[in-house]
This record gives sequence, structure tokens and C-alpha cells, in this order.
Amino acid sequence: MTMKIAVCGKGGVGKSTVCAYLIQALLNRDRRVLAIDADPSPHLARLLGLDDSHITPIAEMKDLLNERSGRDGPFYNLNPKVDDLPERFMKKRNGLSLMVLGAIEQGGAGCACAENAVLRNLLNRLLLSGGEDIVLDMEAGVEHLGRGTIAGVDHILVVVQPYRGSIETAEKIDRLARDLKIRSLHIVANNCQDEEDARFIKEMCGQKPVGIFRASIETKKAERQGLPVTVASPEMLENAEKIISVLERS
Ligand SMILES: Nc1ncnc2c1ncn2[C@@H]1O[C@H](COP(=O)(O)OP(=O)(O)O)[C@@H](O)[C@H]1O
Ligand SMILES: [Mg+2]
Repeated sequence: MTMKIAVCGKGGVGKSTVCAYLIQALLNRDRRVLAIDADPSPHLARLLGLDDSHITPIAEMKDLLNERSGRDGPFYNLNPKVDDLPERFMKKRNGLSLMVLGAIEQGGAGCACAENAVLRNLLNRLLLSGGEDIVLDMEAGVEHLGRGTIAGVDHILVVVQPYRGSIETAEKIDRLARDLKIRSLHIVANNCQDEEDARFIKEMCGQKPVGIFRASIETKKAERQGLPVTVASPEMLENAEKIISVLERS
């Protein structure tokens, strides 16, 4: 069974980092993985050690999006053609494919609805295609891609750190997931310094995190040097492997 995982949470909590380790954990099981970077300032490629110099986020392909959206004045196509896009925009290495969505700029008074419809359609199609595991690195909030998109995933992982703000964001995401009837939502505690941090998260969230990542100097260093983080901390990788095992059983 393939699994589709969306990784959400407040900005800077470590979503992309956790994604990178989860992706590596899946690849280590010889699974095929489609990683989708839906963060408005994407950098998942670098964390995975993929050369990002030739990756253009689809959102920046203005002409293409415009053409596909079939925009005509205030009207646009709600079901634009997107099925040829994945092949054109995916970066591949062994069992891994990466697609970078990027963000649609909300230029001036103009509405980006038409372009967003193309992106959303693309994402929905990818989530419906069943051949590989999907790890979706979400933007900080969850709203710009719309509720419909997130409804297509099997598991939501909400990354939190031991501070109140990140846990408030998690509560919002939890409510959204309940609205959408997504049954599998787990908390991932990140950047915990000690037992007290882990306990704070557990108490504030009212549930035991599915994984607890400690503050990792190796990961921090790798990121600073622009190196792949996935090889930096065997402990974080092992944690990610345990999370995958839990998701497989849930
Ligand atoms: N467990 C950790 N230990 C040390 N540094 C971390 C850890 N998790 C994330 N970081 C660092 O925190 C910063 C933000 O992480 P990132 O994954 O980019 O967050 P997000 O994708 O949520 O914005 C990065 O510099 C990353 O290297
Ligand atoms: Mg990120």
C-alpha cells in the first residue's frame, strides 16, 4: 500500500527537515517516493541533496499557467489540462521524484485564482495517482492550496516545537483535518532539548507525539553548509523510520 503524507505546521518548525528524513526513510525501504514541495519558498531539493539549479517552481511559469488556465477576462477553466506537467517538471533520482510547486504571487489587485486552479488541479491529480508514496511539504498555513487538496492525503503530520505558538497552529490544522474527516493526524515533536520539552508538547497537544526529534547539531550544520540533511543525523533518520512504521500500521 502506498501512503500519502502531508507535513504541516507553523513556519520554521522543521517541516522540510522532517520531510527530508521521512523521504529518506521511505527510500531506504526501496519504496518509490514522490516529494512535492509546496512551500512558497521551496528548498526541499537542497535538503535532499538534489541539484536545485535547474528546478523552476511551476508557480513561476506564468505563461504556462496562464495558457492552461484558459483565462478569458474574469473567466477561467476550473479543470485545466495538467497531465503532461508532472513529467516536464519532475526532478528524478533513483526511486525519488521531486516536484516543486512554489507560490503564486498575489500581484497587486489581480486575483491569482486562475493560476491557483492549475496548481490545485495538478496537485489533486498527483494525489490521485497511486503508484508511489507521496510526501507533501506544505506551506506554513494550509489554506492557499485549498481544503480539497489536503483531503486527498492519508496522513497528516503536524510538526510542532516546544513553544505555544506552534502548538496553536497545530490545533487549527487539527480542526481542519476533523472537518475533512481525515482520520490519521499525528503530532511530530521537533527540536526538543530535553524531557521537559517533550512533556510540554505532549501535555499541550493532549496526545503523545508519533515521533520526537531532538535538537540536532549535525542537522543544523548540514543545513548551514547547504549539504543534504538526510545523511547528517542517523538518529533523526531512525526516528523517521519509526514514524513510517507507525503510519503503516494506522
Ligand atoms: N531537529 C532539529 N535540530 C536542529 N535544527 C533543526 C531541526 N529541525 C529543523 N532545524 C533547523 O531549523 C530551520 C528551519 O527548518 P525547516 O525544516 O526549514 O522549517 P520549515 O520547513 O518548517 O520552515 C532550519 O535551519 C533547520 O536546519
Ligand atoms: Mg519548509
